[in-house]
Amino acid sequence: MTTNTAAWINHKHARLETGAAPYPEVGERQILVETSAVAINPLDWIIQVEGNLTYGWLRYPTVLGADVGGEVVAVGGGVSRFTIGDRVVGLCVGTDKDRNRGAEGGFQQYVVLDERLSSPVAGGRSIEDAVTLPLAVSTAAAALFQPRHLGMPLPGAAPSPTREVVLVWGGSTSVGSQAIRLAVAAGYDVISTASPRNFDHVSRLGAASVFDYRSPTVEADVRAALAGRRFAGAVAIGQTGAPACVRIAGRSAGNRTVAIATPPVSFATLADGRLGERARVTGRLIGSNVALQVAARSRRVRLAYIWGSSIKNDGIGTYVFGSYLPTVLADPEYRVSPAATVAGHGLEAIQGAMDRQRAGVSAEKLVVTL
Ligand SMILES: NC(=O)c1ccc[n+]([C@@H]2O[C@H](COP(=O)([O-])OP(=O)(O)OC[C@H]3O[C@@H](n4cnc5c(N)ncnc54)[C@H](OP(=O)(O)O)[C@@H]3O)[C@@H](O)[C@H]2O)c1
Repeated sequence: MTTNTAAWINHKHARLETGAAPYPEVGERQILVETSAVAINPLDWIIQVEGNLTYGWLRYPTVLGADVGGEVVAVGGGVSRFTIGDRVVGLCVGTDKDRNRGAEGGFQQYVVLDERLSSPVAGGRSIEDAVTLPLAVSTAAAALFQPRHLGMPLPGAAPSPTREVVLVWGGSTSVGSQAIRLAVAAGYDVISTASPRNFDHVSRLGAASVFDYRSPTVEADVRAALAGRRFAGAVAIGQTGAPACVRIAGRSAGNRTVAIATPPVSFATLADGRLGERARVTGRLIGSNVALQVAARSRRVRLAYIWGSSIKNDGIGTYVFGSYLPTVLADPEYRVSPAATVAGHGLEAIQGAMDRQRAGVSAEKLVVTL
């Protein structure tokens, strides 16, 4: 009988522990993948340190991890796009409320993926590179294309470039980098922010202008770059992004919508689940969200928090995993950006990589090989 091993989170706030796991069964439209690499996202350590703040439904023990890549070892009924032996990457949704299932968490040797959230990986492309993309591209696509966010037409759907301008605050993040690429592909001009050391990175992705988000003049600089242009909305990434984007959107002509990836509060200080710090962060979270809502309402700006995996329920998921990712991953000219940094090998290395992600990365995506 084939066995499985997972990096378990046994209870809320627990550090990951490697141990035996059930060998998963695949259901309708699901594939079973033998994992060879996982990418690390802020979401992984945020769920670990925040406990029940936003993922109160999680049943423990469970398995975290959103981005996996490897080889298909079994296919469920109705699967038409994959066969055994295919190389794939995919988005794991085991921590979503409607799944809540350890077998669909990424940090394990054998993982169940939804066929619709999986992409083939062409022969010349390493899984370590490809695995950096699923959650970042899904989140960026949700922000740009879902009607509840910026509602742009998908790339290829618009007859010609719109030359409207979208603001991607935090262009050197993984999500921001993908948002720039997708917005440019959809025919929009992009204004972005990053640290000066990442200006080249952001420009190479296609941003027309990039400003230092720590500069005291950043909002005036962005507004000047937007002068006379039609605004297509903002994607707010990074802790200072949402309030700044609301102020900028409030003084812009066009689509005054801000899609928020990062709440205006850091969870990084919650590492050991101390009660006092948890209460402080919860208070700050509530207070800053109320302030954000008030600021948005008074400026007639529409706000919506992004949920990256929500694209599993709409045509945007089909576009990302059925069209966009298969195409770019087969293009020898396409460079993943931010680049992958292999932060360790084996399930035991994942907790250290999550700690390193929490300490801060700059225009890089941490990957663990298995
Ligand atoms: N809602 C969702 O569904 C969803 C899904 C995925 C991610 N997220 C969230 O989206 C954010 C980005 O995730 P990620 O994986 O892309 O992050 P990441 O790559 O780990 O982010 C690191 C980058 O953050 C940038 N940064 C830090 N503070 C910033 C600020 N105040 N303004 C602009 N940029 C700032 C840094 O830029 P420099 O090095 O240039 O300074 C650094 O390159 C996280 O908050 C994450 O939790 C949300």
